[in-house]
Order: sequence, then C-alpha cells, then structure tokens
Amino acid sequence: MEELKRRAALKALEYVEDGMVLGGGSGSTVAIFLKLLAEKVRKEDLDVTIIPTSYDVRILALNNGLKIASLDEYPTPDLAIDGADEVDPYKNLIKGGGAALLREKIVDYSARQLIIIVDETKIVEKLCSRFPIPLEVLPFAWKTVINRLSKIGTATVRYAKRGKVGPIITDNGNFIIDFNPSQNLTDNLAELNYKILSIPGVLETGIFLGTHVNKVIIGTREGVKILQ
Ligand code: 5RP
Repeated sequence: MEELKRRAALKALEYVEDGMVLGGGSGSTVAIFLKLLAEKVRKEDLDVTIIPTSYDVRILALNNGLKIASLDEYPTPDLAIDGADEVDPYKNLIKGGGAALLREKIVDYSARQLIIIVDETKIVEKLCSRFPIPLEVLPFAWKTVINRLSKIGTATVRYAKRGKVGPIITDNGNFIIDFNPSQNLTDNLAELNYKILSIPGVLETGIFLGTHVNKVIIGTREGVKILQ
C-alpha cells in the first residue's frame, strides 16, 4: 500500500513548480508527498511555501525543513495536494478520516488547482460504500445534530481509539460526527451536502464535490492512473 501511495505522490511532484504556494492536505499519502517534496526542494533549491491544513501537517512540514505560511498571507494557493478516503468516477470525494476536513475544504477550495492523491483501494463506484461522511460539528450542538441526522441515516460521534478519552477534538476545537445516509440520498451529493449543512451546528461536511477537483492521481499495481 505504501508503494501505491508513493507512486501517486511522485506523480503529483511533477506539478510543483518553483515559487509555488501549495495547500498541504492531511493524511498518510500527503505525508509521503511532503517528504518527497522536501527532498526535491533541498536538491533543486526551490522556493515552495506550504499552507498546512492541520497541526499534523504543520509539524511535518517544519520538521522536514519546508517553509509554511497561512491563508492570511496567501488566500489563493497555486495548487493544493490532498488525500481522500473515497473517490467516485466523477471525482467526488469523501474526506475527513483524519478529522481535518474543515481546514482541508477551506484550503482545497481556495486553491487555483486541486490534485487528489490516493492508492487504488480508495476508488468506489458510489460514495459511502465503505466510509461514512465525516462532519465537523460544534460540540454545543452534537445531540441536536445527531437527532436530525438520525431521521435520514445513522450518526455517531467519533471517539479517539487511544491517546485521549472521549470524543476526538478537531484542530478547531470541535467534534466529528460520522454519518451514514440512507442509501438513496447519495444519488444527489450536492443536495445531500446542502441538506446536512443546513442543520444548525454542522460546520462542514466531508463531501468534496468533483467540480472542485482538477485531477485525481491514483497509485495502482499497474502504475499511475489519472482521473480528470
Ligand atoms: C484527513 C483526510 C485524508 O486526506 C484522508 O483521510 C486520507 O488519508 P490517507 O492518505 O492517510 O489514507 O481527509 O482529514
């Protein structure tokens, strides 16, 4: 699996140019990309700036000698590179496995171009095949949000498996609710996204619509495939 992620990450490197400001998504595939990027920057003496989407990426970038900045300074990054939990044939994504979806969506949607890097196990015919939709939710509203979502599917607050008791707290101080919608609702993702966002207390959804994604680079056993 590592090798497939590496193949996608290596391909994504080809789109990075000297002087670029890059949105840095979160997760293990982007971590591989950032380490490769750091090597390239050192070897070729490039000027590249990363806008991190999580504390994890911020620390990773700094530890690897990459320059970081914020959206305050660069509200329109040249390119964002991010991972995903599921990808359908229309480049629609589910993201948020690492609980970073809110900042990821802000950075990814602000960038001039968005490239997603995944291994082939992430490809599905229809979203929510294997992964629920993560939602970032204000802790004050968790119960009312769950009650509303329970009318159109099943929803649970995400708990940390280790390192902390109780719900996961995001980098923004919020909860994550994992939502499995009733099946027919995933037929229209834009409508579903809107429906979920209209619940008071839901701050963002892990549905990333394909219209915002320029390319998906897929690391496969046979090599690299690109959805565009
Ligand atoms: C974090 C994300 C990640 O991009 C997603 O979970 C994929 O991670 P990985 O590359 O480790 O499979 O959305 O919130």
